[in-house]
Amino acid sequence: MSVHDFPIRQAALPVLSNNKVNEEYRQLILRAPSELMARCRPGQFFHLLCPTTSESAPFLRRPMSIYAALADREELHFLYKVTGLGTGTLARLQTGDVMDVLGPLGNGFTLADDWRNLLLVARGVGLATLAPLAHAAKDSGRRLTAICSARHADVLMSVQMFEGLGADVITVTDQDGTSTPDALRPVIDNLVAQGRVDAMFTCGSNRLLKLCQQVSADHGIPGEVALEQQMACGIGMCQCCVRSFRKPGGIVQLRVCAEGPVFDMAEAMGA
Ligand SMILES: Cc1cc2nc3c(=O)[nH]c(=O)nc-3n(C[C@H](O)[C@H](O)[C@H](O)COP(=O)(O)OP(=O)(O)OC[C@H]3O[C@@H](n4cnc5c(N)ncnc54)[C@H](O)[C@@H]3O)c2cc1C
Ligand code: FES
Repeated sequence: MSVHDFPIRQAALPVLSNNKVNEEYRQLILRAPSELMARCRPGQFFHLLCPTTSESAPFLRRPMSIYAALADREELHFLYKVTGLGTGTLARLQTGDVMDVLGPLGNGFTLADDWRNLLLVARGVGLATLAPLAHAAKDSGRRLTAICSARHADVLMSVQMFEGLGADVITVTDQDGTSTPDALRPVIDNLVAQGRVDAMFTCGSNRLLKLCQQVSADHGIPGEVALEQQMACGIGMCQCCVRSFRKPGGIVQLRVCAEGPVFDMAEAMGA
């Protein structure tokens, strides 16, 4: 087995660009070997060693979902929100700098053969995590509907990307009152009635997770959620990312980095 066959790699990848998408989010694009990108699955993540600057030294790696892994272009994309120390130094990366990444990590989403009509319900950075499903849906000839939720229209992201991949996009915002569970429930019920939801995927909001769990239980529709949890090692060693899940035999504790970050929607218990 050569080092290139090992499923997880630590690699120093050159920064191609690191541009603002809007007031809150940036997109980081790294040059990455095509054999590594070909191995990435929707829902997986990389553990990023955020750079040390003269003012900041982020100690632990920070987990970041794969926004796109383009083997043909040798590109690895991340979409991130600057929230603190680590993502703050990430925002300073410039073209030509080098970024240390570890991955791909985690399990990734399931795409069962009979899930022909997919519904994504995403908010905020959850859009970054769910975006690769749009590529997978297009490649496998499935119909995709994406509900994109945000505080206001200026921070709605990925709409054109989803549309470009053939998805039907529904945008909802807090600003116009369309993003509440009460407002969304009839929208989703209507999609179900039209036969457009064989499976649901969500990420980025506990409120949306609860809504999707209710829809899933009421209509008997399967679904998956990608969870965000603070991590240290990212590879299953430290137990710092453990959360509770409802299983048939009772409540169990699972590591989000190793058994997840994608879980059966019905089993997730919220933060
Ligand atoms: C599997 C996974 C995939 C992720 N994908 C993305 C992504 O694609 N884009 C993106 O912008 N963010 C993503 N995140 C969240 C991202 O890892 C955190 O925002 C980041 O680690 C914050 O680091 P920081 O040093 O900038 O902030 P800190 O100073 O460490 O924290 C700032 C705030 O963020 C919270 N936070 C810190 N780490 C996490 C974490 N791991 N999950 C949730 N909240 C956290 C803290 O509680 C605090 O409120 C993902 C998290 C996980 C677990
Ligand atoms: S982050 Fe260490 S076990 Fe998950």
